Amino acid sequence: MSQYLEATIDVYKDAALNPNVGLCCTTTPVWQLPELNIPSKMLAMNYGCGSTVAPRDLSHDPKILYVGIGGGMELLQFAYFSRKNGSVIGVDVVDEMIEACHANLKEAEDLNPWFSAEFIDIRKGSALDLPMDDETVDVAAQNCLFNIFKTEDLRKALKEMYRILKPHGRLVLSDPVSEDSIPDSIKNDDRLRALCLSGAIPLQDYIDLITSVGFGTVEIRAKRPYRILSPNQYPGLTENIYIESVEVCAIKDPMPEDGPCVFTGKAAIYFGNEEAFDDHKGHVLMQNQPLAVCDKTAKNLANLNHPDIFISESTYHYDGGGCC
Ligand SMILES: C[S@@+](CC[C@H](N)C(=O)[O-])C[C@H]1O[C@@H](n2cnc3c(N)ncnc32)[C@H](O)[C@@H]1O
Repeated sequence: MSQYLEATIDVYKDAALNPNVGLCCTTTPVWQLPELNIPSKMLAMNYGCGSTVAPRDLSHDPKILYVGIGGGMELLQFAYFSRKNGSVIGVDVVDEMIEACHANLKEAEDLNPWFSAEFIDIRKGSALDLPMDDETVDVAAQNCLFNIFKTEDLRKALKEMYRILKPHGRLVLSDPVSEDSIPDSIKNDDRLRALCLSGAIPLQDYIDLITSVGFGTVEIRAKRPYRILSPNQYPGLTENIYIESVEVCAIKDPMPEDGPCVFTGKAAIYFGNEEAFDDHKGHVLMQNQPLAVCDKTAKNLANLNHPDIFISESTYHYDGGGCC
């Protein structure tokens, strides 16, 4: 096993034994849902950024896999929606984290009359070699683990998620990204990488890796400020590094012949005098009704130079629907 993966295990062994609220620094508000009570230790062990739990992914009784379980908060949130024995599978490579998560879920049983720890099946295993059969999962998720992986391991982890998902299954990811160039000395600092501080890559590279393993549709659901790494705190830097966190959903749709559909929150609006505009390629823009479009369709429509079609900028907050 690579040295940085071993260092990661050590960091999370310690984080399991000594819960550390500041470890991954997320300011995302914690969900308040009817009759959902999150144990305080589980909250202190929220080592993610953003959320991977979206009710819209969870219709039709899905089989859910969550990799890199931390204190179990998102396992509990997924179980809130599924409420069936074994419907949520958690995988983690750190024994101490698995033990701590079991203890937190036991406590969650006492606080939540609707919840049974048996809803969740925790397995020891690595994101790089998942202990799961092919095409057995509807929704797979990870929060703040994949950014730790170096490129070839990240590709391997994405391939593993692709392998275990059923056709049209969804991979929900939450990770830091950065458009700034991070010096190698910081990138190769195993501890900073394990703390989700120096493995961040540009969003487009992240999307390219996701589509390179076969995911035909990608949705960018959220993008938020995450951290500044400054030279006064991180010797080796000469200027500030700005890190954002993203929530992304990758769907195991077949790859379109002309490349993946990536939704970054663009919309097309036809404001001409006809009832609708039809590009005869499957896109009908009803007069004055915004249509969410993937970046590929946005580009094709913009290339028409039609005076009565407006294409919005990416909001990085795609919320469903639209073309493709
Ligand atoms: C940054 S924490 C995120 C925890 C959790 N997802 C959350 O949002 O609170 C990373 C998690 O991944 C686990 N982990 C580290 N390396 C792993 C690997 N190779 N495979 C699976 N899990 C791993 C750690 O034990 C830890 O639970």
